Amino acid sequence: MTVPPPIAMLAELTHRCPLSCPYCSNPLELTRKEVELSTADWTRVFREAAALGVLQVHLSGGEPVSRRDIVDLVRAAAAAGLYTNLVTSGVGLTQARIAALDAAGLDHVQLSLQGTDAEMADRIGGYAGGFARKMAVAALLRDAGLPMTLNFVMHRMNMQQLPRAIEMAVELGARRIEVATVQFHGWAMPNRGALMPSRDQAREASRTVAEARDRLSGVLVIDYVPADYHATYPKACMGGWGSTGLNVTPDGTVLPCHAAQEIRHLTFDNVRDRGLAEIWYDGAAFNAYRGTEWMQEPCRSCARKAVDFGGCRCQAMALLGDPAATDPVCVKSPEHARLAEMAESFADARADLVYRHA
Ligand code: SF4
Ligand code: FES
Repeated sequence: MTVPPPIAMLAELTHRCPLSCPYCSNPLELTRKEVELSTADWTRVFREAAALGVLQVHLSGGEPVSRRDIVDLVRAAAAAGLYTNLVTSGVGLTQARIAALDAAGLDHVQLSLQGTDAEMADRIGGYAGGFARKMAVAALLRDAGLPMTLNFVMHRMNMQQLPRAIEMAVELGARRIEVATVQFHGWAMPNRGALMPSRDQAREASRTVAEARDRLSGVLVIDYVPADYHATYPKACMGGWGSTGLNVTPDGTVLPCHAAQEIRHLTFDNVRDRGLAEIWYDGAAFNAYRGTEWMQEPCRSCARKAVDFGGCRCQAMALLGDPAATDPVCVKSPEHARLAEMAESFADARADLVYRHA
């Protein structure tokens, strides 16, 4: 099998974050500051990524601006020739810092939105005053002329705010909004009883997105991740394992996706020990579920196997204990009916939120 180079790299610069969203995709065991990669390490990783063929780097976390050297890191990534996207809550940004990031070569900002008003956003983010700060930062970004995408993470508690989130994206001058229903990994798993949307909510969200895409064509691009526990076919998670992107964690561990460490039997390489290209092409974790050879039935003989690659390996692991199983979101999975029942029962539950704390 010919393996193409990755297009994108998610650089998880730190797990530190002032917010404590109850669906955070970071692992349950957060990496401590003392073992984070240094500025020099990241500079080398950015160069290796560009040499490997990576085009875009998503500077993420935790909260990436919790790194004191964030401006130097942006400069290093830009100097390596990468398109730089800062994935941030905005809470730690000031006018001076935005100007410095802009001057360092930052290409784009992705600003997270936990809700469309302070009551919802601050409750979900677990950070009083966060929403007001974020709105001020959105205005500063617009004034600085930095291209911006809003990232609205949706779940049962805030799904009714979707129409307003789309309006806000237009008002704030964003060119794109990513409307992503919570994916149940990391901290979202213990919060399924609080966050799982109902089937009716999921349908209504899909209708809202379709109507807004039509109405705002040429004004706003809407990317949409639907509620997959209620879906018929799974998403092509990561565009297929080890095919388009890689993640580097704060301590330099290289993962095929952000949740891959949930698959306990895999071994992962670290950029401190091996070059990025060698890890991408030869790393055991990257080759574990590449292509379609590893598949079991019903995926193995399915016409969609090169469309969705059997769904999400981490979800198959989390729900069935077998990462090579068909993602139970798929209607052809023998476990699909059980997942649908589970989704209904979580959607009816009235659990309290469990917050992450960095
Ligand atoms: Fe995708 Fe496998 Fe379902 Fe076919 S059986 S649609 S490949 S998840
Ligand atoms: Fe890991 Fe989907 S989150 S493959």
